[in-house]
Amino acid sequence: MMGVEHLRNLAILPGAEIVAIADPVATSIDWATDALGDRAANVARFDSVEAFAKGADVDAIVIASPNNTHRDVLERLFDMDAAILCEKPLATTIEDARWIVDRAAVHSKPFWTGMEYRFMPPAAAFIEQVHAGRVGRLQMLSIREHRFPFLPKVGDWNRFSANTGGTMVEKCCHFFDLMRLIVGSEAVRVYCSGAMDVNHLDERYDGQRPDIIDNSYTTVEFANGVRAMLDLSMFADGAENQEEMSATGDAARLDVLIPAGELVYSPRVGFLNPKQVERAHVAVDPAAKAAGSHEGATYYQHAAFAAAVRGEGPVQVTAEDGLRAVAIGTAAEISAREHRVVQMTELGL
Ligand SMILES: NC(=O)c1ccc[n+]([C@@H]2O[C@H](COP(=O)([O-])OP(=O)(O)OC[C@H]3O[C@@H](n4cnc5c(N)ncnc54)[C@H](O)[C@@H]3O)[C@@H](O)[C@H]2O)c1
Repeated sequence: MMGVEHLRNLAILPGAEIVAIADPVATSIDWATDALGDRAANVARFDSVEAFAKGADVDAIVIASPNNTHRDVLERLFDMDAAILCEKPLATTIEDARWIVDRAAVHSKPFWTGMEYRFMPPAAAFIEQVHAGRVGRLQMLSIREHRFPFLPKVGDWNRFSANTGGTMVEKCCHFFDLMRLIVGSEAVRVYCSGAMDVNHLDERYDGQRPDIIDNSYTTVEFANGVRAMLDLSMFADGAENQEEMSATGDAARLDVLIPAGELVYSPRVGFLNPKQVERAHVAVDPAAKAAGSHEGATYYQHAAFAAAVRGEGPVQVTAEDGLRAVAIGTAAEISAREHRVVQMTELGL
């Protein structure tokens, strides 16, 4: 799924050329070939990462394999002299994420973790305004994702925490990454109440029932005193907005609604005084929006990654960022399972 979204976005990215793809599953290669359309004839196809590493001549690589394969896949690609964008979550365990951070630090070219929610235009505008001080001194950050259940995947890998890292790592690493970015500090402790209560209950894969959280509340306390919370429901597909974020400071509150693209600014006015709410709309390029299912985020992330590949811009999402998001997600998974607060120091962070 995500590989195809990358191909569709690279197709509209100025100066990008797709020269090779790799996937061990033939039907996935067929889907990719369909997505490539007329350009497929010029694209080399490999049935393994090993063959790709030997035979492909590329400037940059995008990894969109299952979460639990990222480390293995990277082990085979780090010897290539090419920039790498690895999909989120960086890995399913802190240990594997650390290995990737260490290896990325000595890689010859830029390494980028695919935390693309940062690049959704309404989210980016929200982040910029909070950082510019629009809410005053930020004290509270709340993020809600209310959406559809996990989709079917190739080999059903996403039904089990062993393959994904668990929902709080797999899905929610995006939101923990946004929290770190917006708050500008590191997490100190995490409490998560969550379980699989509605989805996947009747599904069985080789006799095994899925074990992934489908609803949770998570609070994260940051070193600079800001508190953040994540409200996740994977059975709220009827909700008008999939993501909603609210940043509240000592001067105002700022909300963003996605996909509505609406920013709502509510300065403090004092008890019983008339509200002074201001609304603004953030536009998304229609071509970027149409090339994926992430409100243009994949396109804008690729534009920023391409700048880094060409040496014209910074790596905006490092391997260390990927590790930190995995670590908060891991803390939330432990917290939900053991019904207790998890200190990040327990995880070595
Ligand atoms: N950025 C986002 O918002 C976003 C959205 C969806 C998925 N993702 C991430 O993208 C990655 C892929 O997810 P997906 O939804 O596309 O899953 P998918 O099951 O649709 O696709 C995964 C593909 O990887 C292939 N694969 C399996 N093992 C491999 C290996 N060892 N080497 C190379 N290819 C291998 C599979 O055959 C399949 O074609 C995951 O890490 C996922 O978390 C990110």
